[in-house]
Amino acid sequence: MSARFRPLVGVILGSGLGAVADAVQRPRVTSYTDLPGFPRPTVEGHAGQLIEGTVAGVPVAVLQGRAHLYEGGPIEAIRAPVRWLRAAGAEILVQTNAAGSLRPEVGPGRLMAVTDHINLTGTSALVGPNDAGVGPRFPAMGRAYDPALLDALRTAAATLGIDLAEGVYTGWLGPSFETAAEIRAIRVLGGDAVGMSTVQETIVARHCGLRVAAVSAITNLAEGLSDVPLSHEQTLADAARAAGDLSRLLVAAIPLLVTGTC
Ligand code: HPA
Repeated sequence: MSARFRPLVGVILGSGLGAVADAVQRPRVTSYTDLPGFPRPTVEGHAGQLIEGTVAGVPVAVLQGRAHLYEGGPIEAIRAPVRWLRAAGAEILVQTNAAGSLRPEVGPGRLMAVTDHINLTGTSALVGPNDAGVGPRFPAMGRAYDPALLDALRTAAATLGIDLAEGVYTGWLGPSFETAAEIRAIRVLGGDAVGMSTVQETIVARHCGLRVAAVSAITNLAEGLSDVPLSHEQTLADAARAAGDLSRLLVAAIPLLVTGTC
């Protein structure tokens, strides 16, 4: 039997951001239903699949589909894919997500590199017994988003002429969007964007020793900053607008991310 494929980089794709998966060369696709602990399909029919292959010559594992806290499923569905990546040999996790912007000048269709996060979900995927073989009971979250990986994203964006914003991502439990007052509060707290994913995976990834980078595709201005009513349909439509740029950005950034890793 041949040795198992060893990804160096894991990529988690957010809602409507599937275009990145098309960039994987010689893809090998595995359904989440064949992977223990991974998210099961939801009523909304989110497909979940793992795509292994290469991007610009770098071995990657792309996770298309993620579990969200608001779905109310087992927390293992958030933990398992991240820990699977680490166990498979990955050293870097790149996350993408759809997010609302709290900065009027960073509007729909823009990309924002995540510099840090604020977890307002009220929980952590690490609540419960700790497996010391995976990571420490109290993992530090300083530099949760790796400065060297952020630099690689900046370089790739500059090369491509993509105007990459930077800011703090705020994790929101959902499934309701925020009120205008909540958005004003998040602004005071220091949030630049808000979304319903990413922070839990970052916590799990740092716990097990993965370096993390994340990019938000801005799909809307947050509640109270514009008259456009928020809806999931609008989020998906605007995510599709940003998906092309995001795909180009990741393809250019992936070889830069692993410099010094191999
Ligand atoms: N709030 C929370 N999650 C989101 C938003 C938002 O405005 N846009 C996309 N995901």
